[in-house]
Amino acid sequence: MKVEDSLIHRLFYPQVPLVLSAQFGARVSAMPVVSYASISDKPPMVAIACSPRGYTCKLTLKAGAFSLSILDETQFNAVALLATLSGAKVKDKLKEAGLSHVNGRNLSVPVIERSIATLECKLKETARHGDHLLLVGTVKAAYASEAFTEFWDFGRYRPLLYTGWREGLTTYSEP
Ligand SMILES: Cc1cc2nc3c(=O)[nH]c(=O)nc-3n(C[C@H](O)[C@H](O)[C@H](O)COP(=O)(O)O)c2cc1C
Repeated sequence: MKVEDSLIHRLFYPQVPLVLSAQFGARVSAMPVVSYASISDKPPMVAIACSPRGYTCKLTLKAGAFSLSILDETQFNAVALLATLSGAKVKDKLKEAGLSHVNGRNLSVPVIERSIATLECKLKETARHGDHLLLVGTVKAAYASEAFTEFWDFGRYRPLLYTGWREGLTTYSEP
């Protein structure tokens, strides 16, 4: 079956969404992202494809820094809300989604308190590719819950596996 251009990204599902958060002045915004990759170990670097039309992307460019948080399946509703509410409409989008946050350890970025793991990243460069902007960040701090030692313990961490937006966020759960 031929796959339409607009559906190609769905071939990658299920994917674990990360929450990209940024703060500039008093404004806090955040959005779930699945178009991301770990692109270097030394130094640790990540890349995210972000729609430049979105408020969170614009705020991240202004801030020059962002955090990436892994949430688990218990935070399904918060992830769904972050995907539907525009950061332009509220002062603190994380709070609106019921996600309390603190300032980062190494960078001035919002860090979700109940996240399973967090990366604090300094924005290193951006590059436009098609309709998205590739944000390349250097990781300045990384920490995780006790469910991570050298690998994840999936008895203690139940990942949210995104399978697409079908009149709402859908996820894969093992039969
Ligand atoms: C699970 C999930 C993953 C997403 N991944 C991305 C992504 O990688 N890049 C992107 O630009 N938008 C992505 N989106 C869409 C944004 O999260 C959504 O447009 C969000 O509302 C943007 O927030 P903003 O208006 O505050 O910028 C994703 C949505 C969902 C539900």
